[in-house]
Amino acid sequence: MRTGGGDPIREAARILAERRNAVVLTGAGISVESGIPSFRGSQGMWAKYDPMEYATLHAFMQSPRKVWEMLTEMVSVCGFASPNAAHKGLATLEETGVVRAVITQNVDGLHQAGGSRRVIEFHGNLDELICVYCWKRYPTRDRWTPGSVPLCDCGEILKPNVVLFGEPIPWLAQEQAEEEARTCGVLVVIGTSAQVSPACDIPRIAKESGAAVVEINPEETFLTGNVTDIHLRGSASEVIGKIVIFSRDPTLQIPRG
Ligand code: OAD
Repeated sequence: MRTGGGDPIREAARILAERRNAVVLTGAGISVESGIPSFRGSQGMWAKYDPMEYATLHAFMQSPRKVWEMLTEMVSVCGFASPNAAHKGLATLEETGVVRAVITQNVDGLHQAGGSRRVIEFHGNLDELICVYCWKRYPTRDRWTPGSVPLCDCGEILKPNVVLFGEPIPWLAQEQAEEEARTCGVLVVIGTSAQVSPACDIPRIAKESGAAVVEINPEETFLTGNVTDIHLRGSASEVIGKIVIFSRDPTLQIPRG
């Protein structure tokens, strides 16, 4: 893909304005500025909790109380978090017709809280609890209080309705995400290390279907220099804030003809 030699953020905004059918894929990095730790890296959740012991379905079935030590931290932190400028900026871009959907690996609900309407939750949401024995579901706020382990009416320990390692992706989310990837003009990948399958396949699907791939991340990832066409190095809020400003610039709107 040919890109201009100027400011890469302006160039990305120009491509977004031109194609007007962007889809966004987000990961934990977009919520870091809301105070939610990411997973990998020295400050990440997996530095504190070994995911094989705390984040697999098998671990939950074997020792749900132990897994709730990690879940308690996640539910508490996410419960107090508010959407940041990046979440709100994406909602603005949806409102103005630049972005048509957000696919998120995050389970914090902050895209919806920030105003995004078309959100595909690839890994579920912490807002809901499910019984892995009788399948009854409950809003988390009805069953969970800090420090407690939530119980089903049948007496079993409830699991947040999120995807743990070893669980399949909810089929509708998977179908919708792949359809969005196949048909978008631009895929904007924000704040994900792109190491977890099948979410990390979405950029490749978009690319192979002809989309431009724009990556927003302060670091390089497995996508950078490979699937990514434009890497915008910086925090999500800073870069999206600039894209929102640029997208209001009438000189970026390329007339179709
Ligand atoms: P990771 O923790 O693997 O990656 C977070 C990414 O965000 C890194 O590439 C950081 O460089 C980047 N980042 C950090 N701060 C940022 C900021 N302010 N703005 C933009 N980017 C920033 O998290 P994910 O890739 O989301 O799944 O992890 C994917 C999945 O692995 C999660 O959904 C979870 C986890 O295990 C399950 O638990 C099934």
